[in-house]
Amino acid sequence: MTESDSQSSGMAVYNRLLGYMRRDMPVLLAGFAGFLVYAACDSAFAWWMKELVDSIQDGLTDRRIELSALIVGIFIVRGIGGILGGYCTEYVSRRVINRLRREMFDHILRLPSTFYEKYSSASVLAKLIYNIENVAAASANALRIIVRGGFTVIGLLGFMFYINWKLSGLFLIISPAMALIILVVTRRFRSLSQRIQQVMGNVSERAGDVLKSYEVVKIFDGYEHEETVFETVIKKDRRLRLKLALLNETSSMLIQLIFSLALSALILVAMQPAILKTMSAGEFVAFVTAAGFIARPILQLTQVNAIIQQGIAAADSIFSVLDLPVERDQGSLALDDCRGEIRFERVRFRYGSADSRQGRQWIIDGVDFLIPAGSNCALVGRSGSGKTTLARLVARFYEPAEGKVSVDGIALPDLGIASLRENIALVNQNVSLFNASIAENIAYGAMRNASRDRVIEAAEHAQVMEFAANLPEGLDTQIGEAGITLSGGQRQRIAIARAFLKNAPILILDEATSALDTHSERLIQLALQDLMQNRTSLIIAHRLSTVENADQIVVLDQGWIVESGTHRELLALGGLYTGMYEQSIDDGSIADR
Ligand SMILES: Nc1ncnc2c1ncn2[C@@H]1O[C@H](COP(=O)(O)OP(=O)(O)OP(=O)(O)O)[C@@H](O)[C@H]1O
Ligand SMILES: [Mg+2]
Repeated sequence: MTESDSQSSGMAVYNRLLGYMRRDMPVLLAGFAGFLVYAACDSAFAWWMKELVDSIQDGLTDRRIELSALIVGIFIVRGIGGILGGYCTEYVSRRVINRLRREMFDHILRLPSTFYEKYSSASVLAKLIYNIENVAAASANALRIIVRGGFTVIGLLGFMFYINWKLSGLFLIISPAMALIILVVTRRFRSLSQRIQQVMGNVSERAGDVLKSYEVVKIFDGYEHEETVFETVIKKDRRLRLKLALLNETSSMLIQLIFSLALSALILVAMQPAILKTMSAGEFVAFVTAAGFIARPILQLTQVNAIIQQGIAAADSIFSVLDLPVERDQGSLALDDCRGEIRFERVRFRYGSADSRQGRQWIIDGVDFLIPAGSNCALVGRSGSGKTTLARLVARFYEPAEGKVSVDGIALPDLGIASLRENIALVNQNVSLFNASIAENIAYGAMRNASRDRVIEAAEHAQVMEFAANLPEGLDTQIGEAGITLSGGQRQRIAIARAFLKNAPILILDEATSALDTHSERLIQLALQDLMQNRTSLIIAHRLSTVENADQIVVLDQGWIVESGTHRELLALGGLYTGMYEQSIDDGSIADR
């Protein structure tokens, strides 16, 4: 990328960011007005100096009351202007942050599954928290400095020109030198800020990973390894930040140096007798005061660039997420009165984003079958054969590369995603629970207003009551992050209760009872059989005892359907299913029936 490219894209990003402020224009303008007052007071102070010195020289002692009142007045007004400006810009920037956070959060929830595969949750969190906070700095601090500093500089310069325009012109000769420094420093700043952000993402990623797997770290003695990896990441962060600080300090030192040179040149010229004659002592003092006063805002203005660059780097990474396309949802048909017939037609599928898919192997390789409405289909097969993947295709978490999946004769892309998912109850292989009470986990999402009786009924069917009754607050017990305070089987039962409560026409259970003892499992099966009447169900199971009664058993292997039929038919065939079945009799998981 050439410099002008990155400059213009930086401008584009900043403009887009300013777009988020547009709605708060009135507040922003009020803030600017405050800063205008603030800046005017700085010039007023220089003017006050002139009046003071001139009054002393001319012996106007009766002005003492007026002048001493004026100085307090100037600073009171200045303070009010500063508060108004500071508060208003902060107000706007907080609103921008909230807008960005909300938009990003909503957007992330609607991104396709490939996004969640590619980015760790921690790195997304870092964007949501750290990067957006940086954007606040850009939008509020930068505006504050630019507007307040800008007004102040203009005011003071105006004052200086008013007093002696020739000397002021001389003073301005330094501006090209400052511009040059700023230009050089800018580019370096942006690249450093970008790298810092990346490293921050890594820091939270590392820490997040370890926190989730703390038991593994402890038992496999991963301390040293984790500490070394973490250490490298935070060291890198420190190095980059120190570089940034050094750059900041050096450039401000250079600018101050240039400034003092200009001021000393000014004094040399101004104190020449010929020039000194043309000014009163008050004018001279006021001029030098203004020139001294102008240094601070100019210095801040040169540093604002750093803040803006950080903000642009942060906003850029946020916008890159906001610009990712959401799940494709162009279907306009709805499943009214869903019967639940599911059909796979020559479906082929492989994972990966569009560009990385080439050369990957097919995970589903030409699957063709029908689950009639209201029937019960079991999907079995070895680990990694593609069972979960098939279930994901039905819920349209992914789309097939070839062939089609349809429900009630409608191809999934023609259906609105919301309408499709409304009609599916799903229990994942890896149960996901939220940091809330058991009841809230069962009545989640669109079901949150379900009556207490219905929640209890679902909890009873799914054998949740069996353990919830012993908890201090029953169904209202908080279960901690991801249900950490519950056993694996208890978590599964809550997920099943959630599916019971949803009571949708299509039920998908992916190893939903794998963690349960045979007794609880059988009780749930009984309840399930009730639920599954007149409902289409797709049951994925390793434990074959749970699928014997299915209307249809489909055996999947390496993305192919190798056999299908009822339990009896498959046994008669003597193929893969028979092998798996005999194995489970041998290891005792079926013998007890
Ligand atoms: N998100 C993913 N990205 C890439 N490959 C994946 C992804 N999820 C699964 N796979 C691969 O797809 C294949 C099928 O996985 P799938 O989860 O469908 O198997 P499964 O039959 O459900 O296995 P199990 O019985 O162990 O749950 C596996 O080889 C797996 O490595
Ligand atoms: Mg699976």
